[in-house]
Formats: sequence, structure tokens, C-alpha cells
Amino acid sequence: MKTLAIETSCDETAVAILEDDRVLASEIASQIDLHRAYGGVVPEVASRNHLVKMRPVLLKALAAANTDLTEIDTFAATAGPGLAGALLIGNTTAKALALAHHKPFIAVNHLEGHLLSPFMGHPDGIRPCVALVVSGGHTLLIHLRAFGDYHLCGKTRDDAAGEAFDKVAKMLGLPYPGGPEIDRLAKEGNPDAYDFPRSMLKRPDHDFSFSGLKTAVLYTIDGLDIALAEARADLCASFQEAVIDVLTRKTIRLAQSLGERCLAISGGVSCNNRLRQAFVDRAAAASPPLEVLIAPPALTTDNAAMIAYVAWQKAQRGQHSPLESDVDPNLRLATG
Ligand code: KG4
Ligand code: ZN
Repeated sequence: MKTLAIETSCDETAVAILEDDRVLASEIASQIDLHRAYGGVVPEVASRNHLVKMRPVLLKALAAANTDLTEIDTFAATAGPGLAGALLIGNTTAKALALAHHKPFIAVNHLEGHLLSPFMGHPDGIRPCVALVVSGGHTLLIHLRAFGDYHLCGKTRDDAAGEAFDKVAKMLGLPYPGGPEIDRLAKEGNPDAYDFPRSMLKRPDHDFSFSGLKTAVLYTIDGLDIALAEARADLCASFQEAVIDVLTRKTIRLAQSLGERCLAISGGVSCNNRLRQAFVDRAAAASPPLEVLIAPPALTTDNAAMIAYVAWQKAQRGQHSPLESDVDPNLRLATG
């Protein structure tokens, strides 16, 4: 079964084609250069650029997958959460294609795309685990029992992990988006140079908080007795380590308390090199050892392959969406 999915929730115009759960094409046109001048995503600029990029990205995906629209069995698009105007472009395109080719349309929750991305192409498919979704807008700790059966165990009480990366990068004078910049600079720094707080680590619940850490970095920058440029790499490494310490320890602790042996880590922040390594090392050292599933780096940040994967799961269960369906900028993940 071939699924074509479109992702336009924010600043990436993405189209992917899957044959069952195998990725035939995953094309992404990033708008980062357009938004960098503003220090963040400008919603109207994003929507208009999706309109411009949609056709070329679609044609590129069809060519890469060596297929054409008549061979697609299901058309899907991200329905939220995200920017309303941006979501509308992808939704309208996918619905028009479904209508023209007399095929079903499936609306997909972007967060479910991230959540299930570690299982894409995995021989065992989706299986029970503790899942951590760390993106620009969300930090969710979920007990995943099966497809569609998610229990929300913890979330951030203030900033999302990716948001903290982006805000701290801004304080350090690094360009948008800050996550990849901190990742790169941290490799040259000492993670023990500054002793930043590990918020919420001692609490028994599974929630996170990153605003105290962000403030600690700000005060440290204000009190520096050397030039910021000299301290930057150490600040990046120490900040990053504090975030990763909390994320890894709380995720592993939840898995141990639930008796789950598998961790599924997803979202843009799971592209981070140190985070990936720390999860693998700490899960292997846990008692009992835990297995870690993380999507390849290109499938951790926003992409349409993860949307197609969820659509394929839904298509097999007959979970089609009406063409009259709306987008929802605040769409939540259905959790019990
Ligand atoms: O999942 P995503 O692409 O978009 C959302 O759904 O939000 O996540 C974007 C977030 C941004 O905050 C970005 O700075 C962060 O993921 N990010 C990273 C890295 N790559 C992207 N954070 C840390 N290290 C990275 N390598
Ligand atoms: Zn995302």
C-alpha cells in the first residue's frame, strides 16, 4: 500500500511516500533562511512559502519514489498542532489529491507522527514502551501500550526542551534555530564548566521544568568575568548536559517503575548527538538494561515520512477522515 503524506505545520514543506512502512521518498524544503532574519518563524511568511514550494516538493517526492499520483492508495496531511495558515496549505493539497484520484484522505496529529517515528521500518513494529517526545513545542513522557493507546505520564510545566535550547542559544548570540548550534558548539566545550540546576529531578512525578535552567544560564552570562565568546562552548556544553541529565534520568526511571524494557525517543531535540549517545549509554547501564529506539536524525526533526507512517497505521484500521475536517492549531494527543 502506498501512502503520500504532506507536512506543513510550521516552516518545513515536506512530502513523503511510503510503501507500507518503508520510506520511498522523504523530501523537505526548509524555510529556515527566510525566517532567520526575524529570529523565529513568521506565520504568514510560512504559509505563503508553503504555497510556492508545494508543487516542486511534491514532484520531487514522486520522482524520488519512482511513482505517480495514480499509484497512491491514501493521501494524508498533518492537521495540527501547528500554524493554522500553514496547516491549511498541506491539508487542502492532500484533500484535493484524494478527491481527484478517488482515494481516502487521512488527517494526522503531528505529535503522533513524532511519537511513532522510532518504530518506522522496525521489524517488530509498534510495541509497548516509554516514549519521550522532545520538540520545539512539546516535552511529553508517555506510556505507549499499543497504536492509539497512549497514557500521558508527564510533561513540561513551562518551556519545551527545544524551546529552552532556542532561547538559550539566543542569549548566547547564536542564530535561529538554536538547537543544532548548541549541539555543534557543545562538542568543543566542557559539560562540567558550569553547575546548572537539574530541575524536578528529585521529585517523584514525571513532569519537567526548564525555565529555572534558562534563568540560571542568563545570570551566569550576566556575571561572566571573561568575554561571552570565550565562555560560549562551555556554556553550551553545560546547559545541554543539564537538559539531557533530566530527560534521560526521568525517562529511565518511568520505564523502571512501569516495568517497560524499551524507550522510544522522538522530536527535533532527539536529533541532538549528545542526547542520543547519553540515552544509549544510560539505558545500557540501567538495571535491567533497556533498549533504545530513536529515528535516524533526518526523521527526528519535522518531516512527512512520520506523518505517512501514522496514516498507514490508520488506513489499515479503516480510520479515514472526512474531506470536511478542519485543522486544529492546538490539537492534542489523545491520551488516557
Ligand atoms: O520536532 P521539531 O522539528 O519541530 C516541532 O515540532 O517543534 O523540533 C524543533 C526543535 C527546535 O527547538 C530545535 O532547536 C530543536 O528541535 N533541535 C535540536 C537539534 N535539532 C533540532 N535541539 C538540540 N539539538 C539538535 N541537534
Ligand atoms: Zn515537530
